[in-house]
This record gives sequence, structure tokens and C-alpha cells, in this order.
Amino acid sequence: MRQERVTVTAVRAMKARGERLVMLTAYDTPTARLLDAAGVDIILVGDSLAMVALGYETTLPVTLEEMLHHTRAVARGAARALVVGDLPFLSYQVSREEALRSAGRMLKEGNAQAVKLEGGLEVAGTVAALVEAGIPVMGHIGLTPQAVHRMGGYKVQGRSADAAARLVQDAVALERAGAFSLVLEGLPWQVAGAVTEAVSIPTIGIGAGPRCDGQVLVTNDLLGLFDEFTPKFVKRYANLRETLLQAFGQFREEVRSGSFPGPEHSFSLEAGEAEKLRRLLARTRPRKVTALRK
Ligand code: KIV
Repeated sequence: MRQERVTVTAVRAMKARGERLVMLTAYDTPTARLLDAAGVDIILVGDSLAMVALGYETTLPVTLEEMLHHTRAVARGAARALVVGDLPFLSYQVSREEALRSAGRMLKEGNAQAVKLEGGLEVAGTVAALVEAGIPVMGHIGLTPQAVHRMGGYKVQGRSADAAARLVQDAVALERAGAFSLVLEGLPWQVAGAVTEAVSIPTIGIGAGPRCDGQVLVTNDLLGLFDEFTPKFVKRYANLRETLLQAFGQFREEVRSGSFPGPEHSFSLEAGEAEKLRRLLARTRPRKVTALRK
């Protein structure tokens, strides 16, 4: 039986009921199918795509076209989870018109049901314009990777009382602008707790401690597939890197030694046809037919 799609109103209702939200990232159809089957509520096609799947050093280079390509793939695999497409750097900051066009394309061409964008008060007007146009928006405050150069690296934000109070103001501004949820990244747990209490929309934490309404991780981190660096907040639920290395190494050995493919992985001519073929070939190339005798 096909399960009902998780909607942005269902996401908001979960906070009201005190139910924790589960969000993970995906960049392709098979992963989206697995997350859907595992009962994950929200699948984020994060711009982390740039770093974990496309080999870029930061999230800045990934383009809207690349994000759309991967969002479409995820949307094809997710029948139940809410699919949120991340707006990449410079696709929404230059003007509201451009933000509207980029976010609209995420829904129209990417088949996402919502978009995510980074920033606080400074993007509240943009968020309001998107929501006005019928585009659900997930906010993202705290450690915002698109601002890595302004932050001077991937640093925990909101460590002083003043900075923490500004983050609470950012969250309130985004809620007022109509955002349906907020990602809180890289914050002291007390600050994430204060933000969560200050707004009625759900907060989804990553490196923000337990006092959020839900949690998100980058799937490749959770699976132990991205080993360039592992932030403190990542919990590895599997070590797929080791499993994959072992499998690739065994394939290499078996190809080199000739033990793969064996008869169980090979096709055969119909009974009696090998001999006929041998005779046919013998007429044209008499000296090169010995291989068929086996
Ligand atoms: O791009 C991403 O994957 C994200 C999550 C870390 C929230 O923004």
C-alpha cells in the first residue's frame, strides 16, 4: 500500500505533537528509495553534494543545474518522504527575482516539495517572497557552509550570549517570514534549545545537540563513506568505506587470478551448438578454434 506523502503541514504538526523529525541527505535515486523505505521523514538534497559526491572542497561551486539534476533523481526515489532541494550559493542572494526563479525551478524541474536556503534576518524578505509564491522554505542558521569564508572556517557559531541572542532573532524573523522549519547547524546545545523554544516551527539540528525538534546528518558521514574529515557531531552508524574497499579489492584479485567470472556467472551456447560453431569456424579460420572445445 502506498503511504501518504509527508507534507510541510505534517512536519509542523509533528512539533506540536512532540514527535521528533528525522532528516537525511540523498543525491541519487537508490539512496532516496532506501531512506524512504527506512521511514525517514525528510530527504534533503543538500548542497553538501558538492563535497561528498562531486569532489569539490566547499559547497560554493555546485550549480543550480547540478542541484536540479540530483534533486530530480532523488524525487524519483522518494514516494513518501518530503523532498527538500537546497538552493546553492548565489542562486538566491543576488535578487528576490532570481531567488524566486531558482526556488521555482527546484519545484518545477527538480520535483522537490520545498527548498532550503541559508541565512537569518538578511534573507527573511526573500523567504517571505518565496512563501508568498507558494514555495515552502526551510531556513538554515548557525554554521552556514556557504559563508565558510566569512566565518573563517567551519566554526561553531553563537558561542557568546550576544551572538546567541542574534541567532534567536534570526529564527524568529524566519518564522515570521513563513519558513516551515529551520536547520540549526553547529551551535552550542543551549543556544539550539533557546531557538527551539522561541519558535513554533520545528528545528532540525546538526551539531546542535539534543534540544532540537529533529536531527539531520549527511548520509555519507553516517555511513562512513566520506573520510576527508569527520566533525565531532557525526555518529557513524556503519563503516561502508571498509566494506566497499574489501569488495573492490576482492574483485581486483579475482579478475587478476581469472577466478571471476566462473561458470555460474557465464552464459553458454545451447546444447550441441558449440560443436556446430567449432566446425563452422574451422572452415574459415582453421587454426583458431581450440578455445571452443571446453
Ligand atoms: O547541504 C547539506 O547537506 C546541509 C545539511 C548539513 C543540513 O545543509
